[in-house]
Amino acid sequence: MMNKTDALQRISELREQLHKYNHDYYILSQPTIDDFEFDMLMKDLIALENKFPEYADDNSPSQRVGSDINLEFKQVAHQYPMLSLGNTYSEEDVRDFETRILKLTEEKIQYVCELKYDGTSISLRYKNGKLVQALTRGDGVQGDDVTTNVRTIETVPLSLQGDDYPDEFEIRGEIMMPFQVFQQLNMEREEDGDSPFANPRNAASGSLKMQNSSVVRRRKLVCYLYYLLGKELPTRQHLQNLEVAKSWGFNISDDSKICNSIDEVLDFIKYWDKQRDELPVPIDGIVIKVNSIDQQEELGYTAKSPRWAISYKFKAERVATRLNSVAYQVGRTGSITPVANLDAVQLAGTVVKRASLHNADIIANLDLHLNDSVFVEKGGEIIPKIVGVDIDQRDVNAEKIEFIENCPECGTKLVRLEGEANHYCPNSLLCPPQITGRIEHFIARKAMNIDGLGEETIDLLYKQNLVNNISDLYRLKKEDLMPLDRMGDKSADRILGSIKESLNVPFEKVLFALGIRHVGQTVAKKLAKTLGSIQAIKAASFEELVNIDEIGDKIAKSIILFFEDEAQNQIVNDLIEFGLQFELNREELANQTNKLEGLSIVISGSFSLHSRDELKALIEQNGGKNTSSISKKTDLFLAGEKVGPSKLEKVEKFGIKTISEEEFVEMIQAAN
Ligand code: IVH
Repeated sequence: MMNKTDALQRISELREQLHKYNHDYYILSQPTIDDFEFDMLMKDLIALENKFPEYADDNSPSQRVGSDINLEFKQVAHQYPMLSLGNTYSEEDVRDFETRILKLTEEKIQYVCELKYDGTSISLRYKNGKLVQALTRGDGVQGDDVTTNVRTIETVPLSLQGDDYPDEFEIRGEIMMPFQVFQQLNMEREEDGDSPFANPRNAASGSLKMQNSSVVRRRKLVCYLYYLLGKELPTRQHLQNLEVAKSWGFNISDDSKICNSIDEVLDFIKYWDKQRDELPVPIDGIVIKVNSIDQQEELGYTAKSPRWAISYKFKAERVATRLNSVAYQVGRTGSITPVANLDAVQLAGTVVKRASLHNADIIANLDLHLNDSVFVEKGGEIIPKIVGVDIDQRDVNAEKIEFIENCPECGTKLVRLEGEANHYCPNSLLCPPQITGRIEHFIARKAMNIDGLGEETIDLLYKQNLVNNISDLYRLKKEDLMPLDRMGDKSADRILGSIKESLNVPFEKVLFALGIRHVGQTVAKKLAKTLGSIQAIKAASFEELVNIDEIGDKIAKSIILFFEDEAQNQIVNDLIEFGLQFELNREELANQTNKLEGLSIVISGSFSLHSRDELKALIEQNGGKNTSSISKKTDLFLAGEKVGPSKLEKVEKFGIKTISEEEFVEMIQAAN
């Protein structure tokens, strides 16, 4: 047995790790570990805490279930806490579940097996047949009120059918993004220069937390319900209740099954482990519940989960295959992504031939050699990854994979900047994929929004020497386009029309479209609003740049480097000549004041004169900073109707000055 000092050391180590993973998962929506590994670490921690009760701590990650609470939404206490389920990973664990139950009751048990949907859980409250509230799980005790967003989900009934529903009840389920929607969304995000979601689960929870519910609607989320709660339920059987709920209009899975023995349960698990890739939405396991509500009540709950239900988690599918080579892709900013070429192999319903290797460090950590037998896994992620190497299979003479030193496309020596994980090719103006990549970025919807030019057309235009950089687009004539493969009269007109229209695209988008490294949409907007014109940005010193909110060393350096480059300056000058917007328009400039300079302002509640977005824009136009959460650094609290009590409490605690919408408008008008 481990001695006390070692145990304490390991316990604190595990707690620290798990706290971090929880934060990555729930708060940042960016998981850094897969569920299985997380659960294993948690198991280790719980085992040690049980063995050494003297080290118990109320703040240990084992004592709570994580939180997805977002300060922008009103927090509301759950009427019944939202518990989690104990996890099992093997046949033996499932049999142990039954053994535990049989110790507590003599009666015969009927189980219900359900799919374990892999999305984000939701609790819906209905009063007199109408949806009145939708809460996320939060920390299990209180959740975020996301009712407005949930109302946009088609599979959530707003008003119930029939007349036999209780006056008041809750129903719980899972909100998910179907695979198909997920793939489409990620494609669009990449086109727009946004980073893609890692998996459908993150996409679903991210979507549910958006401020603009009309965008949520377009995310085409779906909701399956699996748990009816309340004082007067239709029957004393869980599955029968769900069937009745189905008649009220709820989306209830047709795949649940009554099982009269643990062997039947295990068959159900085996069946779905194979079959799960055929479903339109992701599942990550099976939930096993005792069907009788009387028995459920008899079995009761532990502090964190019911004793009458458990989940079985599927293992991430893993296969071994051969590593044939490593290819290196060059992105639009020159960053290099290594990709493994593999012997084709069947994994989780698709044929896998490639796996992402991310960067040089990952290759070094795996100690990859050519022809290695590698293990490939496809967790919740869509792009498979290499998780390990079978060293026993390695030939003694196998060649170690060394990260390339020169750009595979143009031969230029690669560089890796301090603190960055990726190598990149500095030959931005002559390296072919960087040229076409920059043009694709330039025309994207969130940049210049130029229609009709796909990747292929851009390649053709580049190969035929018609477009070598973004400014060449404005030199294109109809005669240039017509001879291109599959180009019709109408398409050519559309392209030229759209290029002409792009002359009206506002400065902040033009600045984003230039594709300066590290200058994304938010930074471009900030620079445009603060400095007002391209000339001012070009003239700004490093110190002036880093003095702007949200602009750090890395971004400032990148902007300076961009304008030190003669060729880039030439392109910008050409674009100015062609008539693109390189300063804020007159109206925006006329409305710019510095009345709110240096003030950090939080907006909350609902407003009657302006939308929240308009208020945000007004704050920025007048030199203020809009922040989302209240802290001691907040200067002003702009309060609308129906501000949540927890916000008001904080405002009072920090003694922050509160103003109404009318007072705010007067304040900025006085400035003009
Ligand atoms: S029942 C007290 N049924 O898994 C029982 N949960 O770890 C509450 N989940 O938070 C949950 N499919 O988000 C239940 N058919 C299903 C489920 C399911 C997915 C999720 C749910 C819950 C988590 C439990």
